[in-house]
Amino acid sequence: MSPPTALPRLDTLLALAAPGAHAVADIGYDHGLLLLRLGRADPHVRLYGVEVQPGRADALRTRWPVQVQDLGARLTLLEGDGLEVLPAGAVDTVVIAGLSDRSIVRILERSRERLRGLRRLVLCPSRVEATLRPALPRLGLRTVEERIACERGKTWDVIAAEPGAPLAAATPAEERWGPLLVARRDPALRLHLEHLSRVYAPAFAHDLGGHRDAAGALSPLGEKLAMLPELRARAAGWDDAPVEARVDD
Ligand SMILES: C[S@@+](CC[C@H](N)C(=O)[O-])C[C@H]1O[C@@H](n2cnc3c(N)ncnc32)[C@H](O)[C@@H]1O
Repeated sequence: MSPPTALPRLDTLLALAAPGAHAVADIGYDHGLLLLRLGRADPHVRLYGVEVQPGRADALRTRWPVQVQDLGARLTLLEGDGLEVLPAGAVDTVVIAGLSDRSIVRILERSRERLRGLRRLVLCPSRVEATLRPALPRLGLRTVEERIACERGKTWDVIAAEPGAPLAAATPAEERWGPLLVARRDPALRLHLEHLSRVYAPAFAHDLGGHRDAAGALSPLGEKLAMLPELRARAAGWDDAPVEARVDD
């Protein structure tokens, strides 16, 4: 039996992580499908999987024995929390996907020193991010590519960042929602904004009340959502292509 092939979110991670990588760490590898995909895409790349959950390495070897055996000594599976369990200097590329934006920021902040030695990070929060893009400049990281991954009617930010000075400031809405996505008028961002307008319709109907503190101040997510309607209206005029066509591409 072979691992599933039609997984656009993992393909987006692969597209941003693989080119130019010599050794990739997947932090929170869980099912291990990204590691298997990375190994298939490049027969020379070294792979490190890190999992905080005990037993995932055995589960991966049991589920995909042939594929894991094919990777041989190129694959190292480690149990632990974040980047700190990686041998120093072992990887040039780090992927963190499927964790909340706050967890990703916490992992990066704890390993600030290691970030400087990396070629690239590829980050894909599990839900709408409100704290990751704002954290990148203070971690010494510059956004070099942004995509919206679309799969089964859901959408995710995928952000590639590299050590370096941040990009010149965009408008607050562009900074929060993806300056590179806005700059190229990405139709997938339009889809993302439309999707989230539907998801958060009940919150908008209550003036984002659930995203305010007792004094009425918006949370970071509330602030980001407050910028959504205007950016969505702007994006509606970008492109005549039918965005629905991209939902499962
Ligand atoms: C929802 S899964 C995502 C799996 C895969 N990365 C993906 O995007 O499909 C999140 C995984 O991250 C692991 N995880 C959470 N925090 C972690 C940490 N600090 N270090 C390593 N693994 C972590 C969890 O145990 C879980 O298996």
